Amino acid sequence: ARPPKPRITVIGTGYLGATQAVCMAHLGFEVVAVDVDPVKVDALASGRLPFFEPGLDTLLVETLATGRLRFTTDFADAAAFGEVHFVCVGTPQSSGSDAADLRYVDAAFSELARRITGRALIVGKSTVPVGTAERLAGMVAELTGGEVEVAWNPEFLREGFAVEDTLHPDRLVFGVASAEAEQSLRDAYAPLLEEGVPVVVADLATAELVKVAANSFLATKISFINAMAEVCEASGADVSLLARALSYDDRIGGRFLKPGLGFGGGCLPKDIRAFRARAEELGVSAAVTFLHEVDQINLRRRSRTVDLVRELAGPDLHGVRVAALGAAFKPDSDDVRDAPALDVARLLYLEGASVVVYDPKANANAHRAYPDLDYADSLAEAVNEADVVLLLTEWAEFVSAAPEDMGVLVAHRRIVDGRGALDVERYRAAGWEYRALGRPAEV
Ligand code: UGA
Repeated sequence: ARPPKPRITVIGTGYLGATQAVCMAHLGFEVVAVDVDPVKVDALASGRLPFFEPGLDTLLVETLATGRLRFTTDFADAAAFGEVHFVCVGTPQSSGSDAADLRYVDAAFSELARRITGRALIVGKSTVPVGTAERLAGMVAELTGGEVEVAWNPEFLREGFAVEDTLHPDRLVFGVASAEAEQSLRDAYAPLLEEGVPVVVADLATAELVKVAANSFLATKISFINAMAEVCEASGADVSLLARALSYDDRIGGRFLKPGLGFGGGCLPKDIRAFRARAEELGVSAAVTFLHEVDQINLRRRSRTVDLVRELAGPDLHGVRVAALGAAFKPDSDDVRDAPALDVARLLYLEGASVVVYDPKANANAHRAYPDLDYADSLAEAVNEADVVLLLTEWAEFVSAAPEDMGVLVAHRRIVDGRGALDVERYRAAGWEYRALGRPAEV
């Protein structure tokens, strides 16, 4: 027999929620997505994605056309419609502390619970401090007289691969407190389970922890290789060769071992900070003290990049014209939250350099975050008359640019490769002075 298809709602239509809503509709479910922001809801309902994500824009238009997906600002509508409600709202860093700000999650759960009348399951997907799900379950039970259950189903999608990661996840994690909740999640994910996606069924606390543990591990791996880059810089060794040699050991593996400017974005930095804050509350801060070092190593790469500009242009950066290539926290994204690229541009600006930023997709968001910097509309405009060029986000457009062509435009052929992504031989052959994090000045 075919599994029943529960009616789905998605609360929050940011990165995570919009992707979840579109993908669930694509998989054949009836979906209602809710957001408090009418501007976002209008855009999505008319087939416009309010952010850049490869492939999601076309899938949005396709799924809207099936009639299985609609958007609303009305919680009552969602509460009446859904059997399985996915909460996908943000958990940003609190202002003034490292802890996660749970006000949106709390509001989403209570807004729903207050309005649901029959049986339903509310599934948290947001990244939260361990213990949150149990607290919310208590609140929901009180508001609904025990008719509505809470489950946790963390999300592991990467920006830039959101659709691919949602339709073909490495694994699903179901944090549940009952067999009924597990069955509802199995029904909601039946199309993926049929394809053999592994599922780990766990308690609520474990499910919450899997997410922060995964992001902590990834951040640690990046900071590990960047710590080695610091040692390479002090000893004349080359971190790119070191990373390659390590990567052949398949116990270590090469993924997330790319040295450079380090991690940024809306997840890794705030998640490791919130994890430390929560561990402290739980009395186990010693267990995750290393995450403080992970954070510090990551931030030190930014000042080291500024040092490399000084090595090339001299100690005083006043009036030095710098082309900052990239603003997004990684390529194929327009997200500038906690972006190392934009932070380096800001640091150079504060030192008096005249900074021109160019990012193929993130210029508008970068401009909103740092209106004081200058923004160019193209790579050629950005590097024009530059004293130093910096590669800060490894967009294909930058990596594939010809050093010979770029050399004609700049004032001085000097480049800092903040992502270790450029062909050093080719740059040197074209007369460029090349510097990269973790690599000797001359080879
Ligand atoms: C990250 C996780 O990879 C996802 O699994 C998780 O679901 C997501 O956070 C989340 O919590 O929502 P994302 O923030 O989209 O995904 O970006 P990543 O692809 O993980 O990259 C993070 C940062 O690490 C980027 O700034 C990237 O440039 C940097 N990075 C990555 C490195 O510096 N070196 C590497 O080897 C890999």
